[in-house]
Amino acid sequence: MTTQNSAIDAKNQNLTRRKFLTTGCVALSGAAAGLGTPRLWGQATPKPAEPPNIDPGFIGPQFFDEHEEQALLEVLESRSPFRYWGPGKPEKVLRFEESFAEYMHTRFALAVTSGTAALDCAVAGLGIGPGDEVIVPAYTWWSDYTCVVHAGALPVFADIDSSLNLDPADFKRKITPRTKAVIAVHLLGGPCDMDPIMETARKHSVAVLEDCAQCVGGSFRKKTLGSIGDVGIYSFQVNKMITSGEGGAVVTNDPLIYERSARFHDMGTIRRLFLDRSGPSRVQTFAGENFRMSEFTGAVLGAQLSKLDTMLAQLRGNARAIYNGIKNLPGINLRYRPDPDGDIGYGVYFETKDKASRDRCIRELRQSKVPASTLTGSVLLPVEESVMNKRARHPNWPSFNSPEGKKIKYGPDTCRQTLDIFDRFVQVRVGAKYTQRINDYIIDTIRSVYNSLT
Ligand SMILES: Cc1ncc(COP(=O)(O)O)c(C=O)c1O
Repeated sequence: MTTQNSAIDAKNQNLTRRKFLTTGCVALSGAAAGLGTPRLWGQATPKPAEPPNIDPGFIGPQFFDEHEEQALLEVLESRSPFRYWGPGKPEKVLRFEESFAEYMHTRFALAVTSGTAALDCAVAGLGIGPGDEVIVPAYTWWSDYTCVVHAGALPVFADIDSSLNLDPADFKRKITPRTKAVIAVHLLGGPCDMDPIMETARKHSVAVLEDCAQCVGGSFRKKTLGSIGDVGIYSFQVNKMITSGEGGAVVTNDPLIYERSARFHDMGTIRRLFLDRSGPSRVQTFAGENFRMSEFTGAVLGAQLSKLDTMLAQLRGNARAIYNGIKNLPGINLRYRPDPDGDIGYGVYFETKDKASRDRCIRELRQSKVPASTLTGSVLLPVEESVMNKRARHPNWPSFNSPEGKKIKYGPDTCRQTLDIFDRFVQVRVGAKYTQRINDYIIDTIRSVYNSLT
């Protein structure tokens, strides 16, 4: 669905606005709401009969409505798609930054073109460079590795644990005198165990970069993710919580990190509005990039942000229902969630005893139309060929030419715990638009399949 085009087409064809907006929503909402089927508890749960239409879909686009449409039309009509000037008064990105900082409880927010760009800005903001080491989870998205390499620094992997996030104990073990930062990635909708991570980081003067790309709107002990460490980043790519197709943001409370990030996103220069926010300039111009967000993107994100609480409430409610329905299965190990209330509910996760059981479990759930899979959305980085061979964009790249860079080894022996966890966990996706009937069906099917495994 190309919604921007659809919006314009709908207008041209004189469709009523309501008709256009409901077309997509009906298609995405899955089966019509039904009364819940009676829950069947106990060991011998029979396989549920007729599967409803289960499609978790992309969360953000399911909530597109006249607010996104209106905001986009305003940009078109103003003929000012560039955030800094135009014939109109461009202020969609500006307002989005203000609202986003407020939502995330941080002093500053910077809108950029993607989560990857946000990571590059945050790394520049922290002043990370050649000679520095950055600790990165062994299972996460490429960009958490590439942002370190692009800065000329050395990525050092730490294992994940059964929270499916950074293992605080392994993070501690991987610290050296050269460790400048750790990237605490809140993967698959669940917050990292931030208390021990922050304690270790503060003790060793290691900066904390929170990657909230997969957990936008999540929290840990009532603090919004991104506001706990020194700097936080978010992605607004289509598979994230709120979306404009592509997009990203950096948040921080630190005026120096903010100014450096803002400079990096705009060729190394700084515009008045950023200094109005962060105070007199503290840094000279340096070589940067162009990661500026367009007004179209800002328009959609402004509308999406106003619905984030609704999206979270729906997704969390469905995930909670499914977790509650399976948590008393004898012997089941659910994902360790250091703060279940902060989880955004992207999926439900449980362990099986080995890879063969995991594969069988996934196969049987899928045969019953339950959206089950291995863990998704990330990469087992230390066993990727280009990582094992320490390949950067140039053979003399500083990351792997320092004494430590030459010495470091990646590969399966460096992340056994991560590989083992990856091989045993099952993911079942949760949708914001699931009905009670869908939740009940998923619960009954997981119970039935899980019981037949042992
Ligand atoms: C954990 C994590 N960090 C960063 C990114 C990068 O975001 P983007 O795709 O917007 O560049 C992603 C994207 O999937 C991600 O999952």
